[in-house]
Amino acid sequence: MASAIVVPAFAQSGLTGYWNFRSPNGDGTYRETFFQLEQNGENLSGKWLGRDPSGIPIEGTIKGDIVHFATVPPPPQPGAPAGGFGRRPVVYDGTFHDGKMTLTSQGYRGQNIKGDAERTTSEAAMPPAPLPLPALRNVPDNGLVRTPPMGWNSWNKFAGRITDKDVREIADAMVASGMSKLGYVYINIDDTWEAGRDAEGNILTNTKFPDMKGLVDYVHSKGLKIGIYSSPGPKTCAGYTGSFGHEIQDAKMYAKWGIDYLKYDLCSARNIYSSTEANHRALYQKMGEALQSTGRPIVFSLCQYGENAPWKWGTLVGGNLWRTTGDIRDAWDSMDKIGFSQLEIASYTRPGHWNDPDMLEIGNGGMNADEYRTHMSLWSMLSAPLIAGNDIRNMSEETKSILMNTEVIAVDQDPAALPTKSLEKDGSMETLVRKMKDGSFVVGIFNRSEQPASASLSFSSIDPAFAGKSLRVRDLWKHENVSVKGDKFETSVPRHGVVLLRVSK
Ligand code: GLA
Repeated sequence: MASAIVVPAFAQSGLTGYWNFRSPNGDGTYRETFFQLEQNGENLSGKWLGRDPSGIPIEGTIKGDIVHFATVPPPPQPGAPAGGFGRRPVVYDGTFHDGKMTLTSQGYRGQNIKGDAERTTSEAAMPPAPLPLPALRNVPDNGLVRTPPMGWNSWNKFAGRITDKDVREIADAMVASGMSKLGYVYINIDDTWEAGRDAEGNILTNTKFPDMKGLVDYVHSKGLKIGIYSSPGPKTCAGYTGSFGHEIQDAKMYAKWGIDYLKYDLCSARNIYSSTEANHRALYQKMGEALQSTGRPIVFSLCQYGENAPWKWGTLVGGNLWRTTGDIRDAWDSMDKIGFSQLEIASYTRPGHWNDPDMLEIGNGGMNADEYRTHMSLWSMLSAPLIAGNDIRNMSEETKSILMNTEVIAVDQDPAALPTKSLEKDGSMETLVRKMKDGSFVVGIFNRSEQPASASLSFSSIDPAFAGKSLRVRDLWKHENVSVKGDKFETSVPRHGVVLLRVSK
């Protein structure tokens, strides 16, 4: 009998081919990342087959057995929504032995990613074929969140590390801190609770969430509500199991568990359906209808990064809120850019249907108190959802004073939800104004520059009816009435800070 000749993989074609990089998430699940690589001498090129339908280019080298490559993100498209992911290179380092690469990398929230990459086929690496989408119809309004939803979400602080224990402790802290009394009631679990599916296709939870029903009951027992997360694609953005082809089944499971809120994140559905308004509407309508068919009131939060102007059709798919931008970061440039980009679409918010410029970063440490006060003021003026993203179990007094400023929360929650408008822009000093239900006006004087600066405001420019009247002016951060004489108000505004006033006759 002739013995088979075993040719080592590298001798066959080096690294050229399709690869599946499987890294354990530490919760019984694996992250799978697919690459298509081409080796030319010591040079590597290829594609990272991820969220982008055409793949993100890869460049790198193999020297001896040492492998190093990175994605080369394309420059942002002109006019693309502010914020964003996929814009920073993802770097992979490792070795190539016995036909297998052992790689390490870092997730965009700093998580360590480690594992083996093995050869796979193009079929396995490519996204599944699209499933038929429903004909577009208008989903009725579910009647929920007549004022912007308030609560907490796990992603900004915990990302993939969130556990059942953390969520229970956050629920405890929401009550103990007094935040729940101010309206922060939704405790939302973001990505990374999912595992695979059982033989009947039911979604399973991973080892970080051993008893979802028990957790839901616990959060409800505190008088709070609970949210969960999924995607219309087969994979979520962190590579966990999404709802693709299981929308009705998943909605039923959420209702069975007692879920009150779903954040539905486009993620890998991007690789399957092109980014058109019709496709996005149909994908979100599918879940919007599935949620309503359960009979349980579930807030529906759309997350497709503001593509195809969801503020124009989010209501029609049964949506209560829709992300308007890419992901926020805990940094001034990100928050400033996202916040001020919202003014031109501010008129699309209305009770039950909100623009969502992403979750709060207040208390996460990347900005100073003035910047966080700007974050809270701006989001409140915009009637944005106030979804805290910090570890509310450990909050400084300063963080509490920002998140729990009842006078600013009242601006956010004003039932009229009238749009905020730009009153004046003087260099980097930007004055915004919004009329409240009681006829008063909230005015935010924002200093977006790198230096403290003085500013002035004429009350009659807010409303001609203010001319010559004696006015009541309240400083919503100092919590005191401001004594004013005449039509002019002069103030100084810290760098990146705000003076927030409520003015009435
Ligand atoms: C996307 C969303 C984020 C978060 C992550 C989770 O990036 O925009 O808010 O949900 O996915 O993977």
